[in-house]
Amino acid sequence: MKLIYQQMIGFLSLIIVALSVVSLMFISITTNNAWETNSRQLAGYTETLEQNAVLSDMTINTAFLANNERLLSGQQVQFLIYNSSNQQRYPFQTAQGSIPKKYWKLLKKGESVSVRATASLPTRNGHNRTVNAAIYYRPVFYSGKLLYVIEALEPVETIQSAINKTQKSIFIAFVISALTAVVLSYFIARRQVERINRLRNATHEIAQGNYDVELDTHGRDEISELAADFGDMTTALQDSEKEIERQEERRRQFMADAAHEMRTPLTTINGLLEGLAYDAIPEDMKAKSIELMRNETNRLIRLVNENLDYEKIRTGQIMLKKKTFNAKQVLLNISNQLEKKATDAGDQLTIDAPDDLTVFADYDRFVQIIFNIVQNAIQFTQSGTIKVVGKHGFHQSEFSISDTGIGMTDDQIKNIWERYYKADPSRKNTKYGESGLGLAIVHQLITQHGGTIKVESTPNVGTTFTITFPDDSQAKDM
Ligand SMILES: Nc1ncnc2c1ncn2[C@@H]1O[C@H](COP(=O)(O)OP(=O)(O)OP(=O)(O)O)[C@@H](O)[C@H]1O
Ligand SMILES: [Mg+2]
Repeated sequence: MKLIYQQMIGFLSLIIVALSVVSLMFISITTNNAWETNSRQLAGYTETLEQNAVLSDMTINTAFLANNERLLSGQQVQFLIYNSSNQQRYPFQTAQGSIPKKYWKLLKKGESVSVRATASLPTRNGHNRTVNAAIYYRPVFYSGKLLYVIEALEPVETIQSAINKTQKSIFIAFVISALTAVVLSYFIARRQVERINRLRNATHEIAQGNYDVELDTHGRDEISELAADFGDMTTALQDSEKEIERQEERRRQFMADAAHEMRTPLTTINGLLEGLAYDAIPEDMKAKSIELMRNETNRLIRLVNENLDYEKIRTGQIMLKKKTFNAKQVLLNISNQLEKKATDAGDQLTIDAPDDLTVFADYDRFVQIIFNIVQNAIQFTQSGTIKVVGKHGFHQSEFSISDTGIGMTDDQIKNIWERYYKADPSRKNTKYGESGLGLAIVHQLITQHGGTIKVESTPNVGTTFTITFPDDSQAKDM
């Protein structure tokens, strides 16, 4: 069943039950009230009659009674009088009617009786007419002796018609309320269902790959919360979709790059080999050609090796031979090796570290890490300064490599740890690095050491890499 109908049924059944209970209670109260009022009225009439219905010589004051009946003819009230032996004396002496025994007993004890019963009313022609009526009996005593009983009687129809009128009004009120409830419940249910439908449509949109859905998240109920969660989910999905696209794009880029990088040296080598084969290369150039081929082959080997190295580190296939050694010395060695490259780029390279600075790491990998980062700094800095600072921190050795080079944007920083990433494709094919593997390997190595690497950079201002290596004691605890 559709949700809208379920909601309407729920809402309606509640209202109908509530309305029914209230109506029934109201009807029962008004009915009781009507009967009570009626009984009180009849009691009042008999009280008035008590003094004057029977004259002192015990004859019935017919004129007085008839007068009263005329006054109350609108209500069809009738009076009957019985003598002390339960014989009817008024309206007709001859009538056979008497008060039922069970009431007579109570009357003799001096109690008035109020009942709802069928009564037979004597008619002028001596026959009895049976009516449903409210009856009130009042015994009249004189010095302890029952003199006579007055009966006041009002046919039920007159009372019932008043009750019926009330019931009719209640029924009309009931129908109007029920109809209002139907309309109201329809609108309330439709509002809820519409909100759910909007969520459903949004789900469809997302299933189709359209993440541009906007949902109303105002309000504090569960549906609004669901809409808010849904929005979060959409954002997350959108992000991961973008991430997948980004990865895919980079993979495609790498395939193109890798093919390109390998084809260039291979084409060079091939050309030179053909030249040699057909003796097209002059004798004095042959040595140079062979040297060129060797360089190109080395480049290919480096490319393949670095890829293999990255995979090995990533999958935890390398063993780190960690020990504590003097780091200042290593920094100086690296600086010596890169001195020429720095001067070629017009850069000034400085080392600042205490002589006794130590680090707990795999020696060769430590050299690889620092070398890569410093080499990058030189590669991306023209006529600037590159500062390498080393110091001992809290249970760790800290190194920072800052340059005043081209820097990176925040977007570029996010990607530098990824394999084959080069922030700017135009930076490819420089004489230093070109595979985009350097930082990916550095990151993996530092993670394996239990250390951290952070980078801060501003475009056209410079870049600072900060690295930490935990001390022997710390690293063992891990
Ligand atoms: N000091 C730096 N200043 C500016 N950009 C940098 C710096 N260091 C790294 N980058 C950016 O990060 C990218 C990735 O660096 P990474 O060392 O991984 O690759 P690469 O230097 O291009 O190639 P290689 O694998 O030969 O090192 C670089 O291409 C460069 O765009
Ligand atoms: Mg590099």
